[in-house]
Amino acid sequence: MASWLLVTGGATRLGREIGLAFAQEGWNLLCHYRNSKDQAESVCQEAIELGVQAECIQAELETDEGCKELFEACTRIAVQDFNCIVNNASLFIPDTGSDFEENQALSQIKVNLMAPMRLGKWMYQYQSKRKIQSITPSLVHILDQKVFNLNPDYFSYTTSKLALERLVSLQAQSFAPKLRVNAVAPGLLYPSGPQNLENFALAANANLLRRPISAVEVAKSVLFLATNPCITGTTLKVDNGQHLIPTERDIMFVVEELMGTQHVQ
Ligand SMILES: NC(=O)c1ccc[n+]([C@@H]2O[C@H](COP(=O)([O-])OP(=O)(O)OC[C@H]3O[C@@H](n4cnc5c(N)ncnc54)[C@H](OP(=O)(O)O)[C@@H]3O)[C@@H](O)[C@H]2O)c1
Repeated sequence: MASWLLVTGGATRLGREIGLAFAQEGWNLLCHYRNSKDQAESVCQEAIELGVQAECIQAELETDEGCKELFEACTRIAVQDFNCIVNNASLFIPDTGSDFEENQALSQIKVNLMAPMRLGKWMYQYQSKRKIQSITPSLVHILDQKVFNLNPDYFSYTTSKLALERLVSLQAQSFAPKLRVNAVAPGLLYPSGPQNLENFALAANANLLRRPISAVEVAKSVLFLATNPCITGTTLKVDNGQHLIPTERDIMFVVEELMGTQHVQ
């Protein structure tokens, strides 16, 4: 029987690439979305054309209830072969340590940290009840090279991802030997927040390899971690070496200052 995987925020951008990378290798896809219904249906259609099964599931990840409904829908569809959750959905809101708003900070912590904590807890309980496992199931969290290359921009987002980075080891210890836990830390992949395309084109090359980071390669790295039974508690940095170039501010603001003009909207 083919394994099923859940990708949170699987309708667009990196989530879409991850779902399709797994589908190409024969995994059935549970594509979670919140608002991007049409895009989620399109990802599922592409996966089905690759010869696998695929279903879209709508859920709000800020609440315990929304996460629970998502997890229960996954186990109803996948029954005995639910083998991977990729925690990709994320909120990315600009703020600083001196101006963050309580509600926005909490929303980011709920989506970026609490949802992977909750889904991990239920996945462990589900895996503990299984009699036969054909592969070692796993969680893969999507981090950000920012956690290895700190600057104070996107303060609440970075705080949530720093905690998620520590969660990799803690969950790996908590869930062994039933469930492996790993992470991928990408560098800049897509224009985000106030960044415009001109700024993004420059910022995307600001890494050791001086070229844009391939989202397809990031997705393949997630697949590698999900299928290698010997790896747990490990984070792969897939960022063209961006984490080795310290910047005092987020790269989009560094580029803006270098250009001397307004290149974020
Ligand atoms: N973009 C980059 O350059 C970059 C760089 C480094 C790391 N990363 C990390 O890579 C991952 C993917 O990045 P991305 O830019 O592709 O992601 P994104 O477009 O910012 O967000 C992915 C999805 O998260 C979902 N989402 C947000 N809030 C939600 C909520 N409250 N409940 C349920 N779903 C929610 C949205 O789904 P709907 O559209 O369906 O509403 C959204 O499409 C993230 O974890 C990010 O931190 C990204």
